[in-house]
Amino acid sequence: MSSVTTTKIPSLKTSISVPGDKSISHRAIILASISNGRTVIRNFLTAEDCLNTLKAFEKMGIKTDKAKDGSLVVNGAGLFGLKKPDSEIYLGNSGTSMRLLPGILAGQPFETILIGDESLSKRPMKRITQPLRIMGASIEGRDDANFAPLKIKGAQLKPIVYNVPVASAQVKSCLMLAALYADGASVITEPQQSRDHTERIFKLFKAKVLLKSKTEVSVAGGQQLISPGELNVPSDISSAAFFIALGMLLPKTEITIISCGINPTRMGFVDAARKMGADITIKNIKQEDYEPAADIVVKSSKLKSIIVQPGQIPSMIDEIPILTLLAVFAQGETIVKGLNELRVKETDRINSMVTNLRAIGADVSSQADAIIIKGPLKNIKQAKVTSFGDHRTAMAMIIAGCLSDKPITVEDTDCINTSFPGFMDIINGFKIL
Ligand code: S3P
Repeated sequence: MSSVTTTKIPSLKTSISVPGDKSISHRAIILASISNGRTVIRNFLTAEDCLNTLKAFEKMGIKTDKAKDGSLVVNGAGLFGLKKPDSEIYLGNSGTSMRLLPGILAGQPFETILIGDESLSKRPMKRITQPLRIMGASIEGRDDANFAPLKIKGAQLKPIVYNVPVASAQVKSCLMLAALYADGASVITEPQQSRDHTERIFKLFKAKVLLKSKTEVSVAGGQQLISPGELNVPSDISSAAFFIALGMLLPKTEITIISCGINPTRMGFVDAARKMGADITIKNIKQEDYEPAADIVVKSSKLKSIIVQPGQIPSMIDEIPILTLLAVFAQGETIVKGLNELRVKETDRINSMVTNLRAIGADVSSQADAIIIKGPLKNIKQAKVTSFGDHRTAMAMIIAGCLSDKPITVEDTDCINTSFPGFMDIINGFKIL
């Protein structure tokens, strides 16, 4: 098990690129695999989570390749071109794979078993298995199909009209995929808008999706998807968030993150940081096929506390660990509310961040679904903390250590590879600038 012991990073004036967006990379493989035609996927994220989705489709007969420039090439087999895998499909730590793939498997004329690592096997799946059962799939799993391994026996699916109880792009996307296999139109609504990458990529593959409002989508059944030929995955704003925070917190610093995804449904962290007083400029905006991207310039900033309301959480769901670190250095009391979903991420991220931030000396407390942080912390304490097996907790704590003269040791850091291989290379590169 690897660990990282941090050293302080000096003031910076630099530009960096972060890898491709995780959510979009998953969806690119999925749509490319079940569409007609060959898709060249540029800037695909070669992190463990997305590679697990890729391997799953290869196991179901999808042929992939590398283009001359290193881009991933996926040869689509059409809506019904997947083959029964010869054994169980292992999805590692990837919640997105475990929640999206069943949408497709529910419509296949074969049975599949999906398994995950220890953390993934503890994450709730009823949120997808229940509606998929209503559509006609037969699904087995521990605790009435709430936990993986999931055994999914496909069927001719019925369309569904479904209110997703929590705002979740994974659940919405699972049902949108299943809707393609239904004999009629499905309508899916959610309490707040979650990230809309599936809606956008469906359109790119010429699927009929009707967005009745920001929280209601309708998908026609039985439609064939047509590959756009190539697509470009913008860089991941959730990975960029760690360096946006670093840029704000280091003195006399300016960091530019080049060509990063700025999908409005993912901008909650940037919006919250700006409310805290962050000096962030977004420039060179371009519409990359179907998702917007831009350069993000962040400068050292003096921060003040904010109150984050539950309605804002879906647009920054993966950025809460790094947002709590910002709050540690902000003047006043920050309260982040509506965090129930954080309890069931790769780890309980309320617990992991409260435990770790306290270890470095911060004044932090939690309620069932909220985190309260009193700042600013003047001196970071030397500490040994753990990632709790969670990539975003690990990266947030490494950023904390980069601000401090006193080293912080973060244990169990291999998990960073699930979303951001190369994270430590960027950090180490700063030390030799
Ligand atoms: C994701 C959606 C989010 C996010 C996850 C990726 C996706 O989960 O936390 O990292 O790609 O759809 P929920 O939709 O369950 O909140």
